[in-house]
Amino acid sequence: MNPLFEKRPVLIAFSGGDSPGMNPFMRAAARLGGNLHDVPVIGVMEGYAGLVRTLARLESGEVTLDSLREEILHRPGIFGFHAKNQHLVHLDPESVSGLVVRGGIKLRSARCDEFRDDGIRARVIQMLRGLGFRAVIVCGGDGSLAGARRLHEESGIQVVGVPGTIDNDLPVTDWALGVQSAIENILQEVTKIKDTARSHRRVMVLETMGRGCGELALLSAIASGAEYAIIPEDGFLSGDRIRKLAGEIEQSHARGRTHSIVLVAEGVRMDRHKWESPAWMVAMRLGECFKHGPFKEIETRATVLGYVQRGGSPAAFDGILAAEFAGTAWQAIMGTGASGVTVVRNGGHKLAPFDWQPDSLERAARLQKLRETHRALSGY
Ligand code: F6P
Repeated sequence: MNPLFEKRPVLIAFSGGDSPGMNPFMRAAARLGGNLHDVPVIGVMEGYAGLVRTLARLESGEVTLDSLREEILHRPGIFGFHAKNQHLVHLDPESVSGLVVRGGIKLRSARCDEFRDDGIRARVIQMLRGLGFRAVIVCGGDGSLAGARRLHEESGIQVVGVPGTIDNDLPVTDWALGVQSAIENILQEVTKIKDTARSHRRVMVLETMGRGCGELALLSAIASGAEYAIIPEDGFLSGDRIRKLAGEIEQSHARGRTHSIVLVAEGVRMDRHKWESPAWMVAMRLGECFKHGPFKEIETRATVLGYVQRGGSPAAFDGILAAEFAGTAWQAIMGTGASGVTVVRNGGHKLAPFDWQPDSLERAARLQKLRETHRALSGY
């Protein structure tokens, strides 16, 4: 028997967008598995796509379940990462060394439409059962956790989800891996852009990520001192709201302020259409308002922050959160055996069932509190 698979390893997959904290999570999961439980952890390259490709190798006859196990045993860590056709890699101690301060996802991530196909998923599940995995950990945002949920419901294998996204749009957890790092990144960019804003007496409009959720923008505005935050939760950004915002900025100029920073979450819409960039639209429309107001000299500029928000070394908070999430995931695997659960930080570290519906009012209240704090700080 293969000594690695005798220990019934745990499989770990990342899917969806990368977020800083995922690499530290992979390191923590592999280290805790080996050091505390003597259970190896096997990583999937490119998440669900790596599973589908491994299935293709199996079904084409290129490998058998036994030869696949041998490949994973004999090409661990960096050898496995660099092997052309290998998608399942034993995360030995060296392979996760140094990852605590690294952004991105060493195992990479990819979109995988095939995994939505019931037939393909059923065959992937059969393969995972055949290989003898003890449990599967899936780390990612809502799409990834939806895939994890289906895996749990259809496979009978223990599945544990881990929230990883800079968007902080998973209502089950107060914090997902990467949010705090993204806020740090945005804070640094705002600080740089403020220099130019001050020097040229400009209104700078910055677009943040977050998909349909405004938390990243709002939290970043609080952390960076940006005066205005426009978020999708406030509804369509009508002409009236733009004029009101322009009026507030003009009033602040009348009080002696020379520049302003406006954060716009990427999910903000002017109407039902999806505009290429809400920040460009806001900057343009504010500019038009200023031309007809008392401070015609006010110039506006737009910057889409883009992927700088998602990269770079994880913030210390995310490194710690990664270790805590890994600890809770292992408790579920070795202790309660709970399947179909997400590890969350929600007033403490907990396990939340996949079908748990968090109190939406509580989440809305949290957002409202953030709004009020931000407004009070910026004084508008
Ligand atoms: O979900 C994370 C996120 O960065 C969103 O904020 C953003 O809208 C999206 O991913 C971008 O995705 P992609 O990497 O596919 O361009």
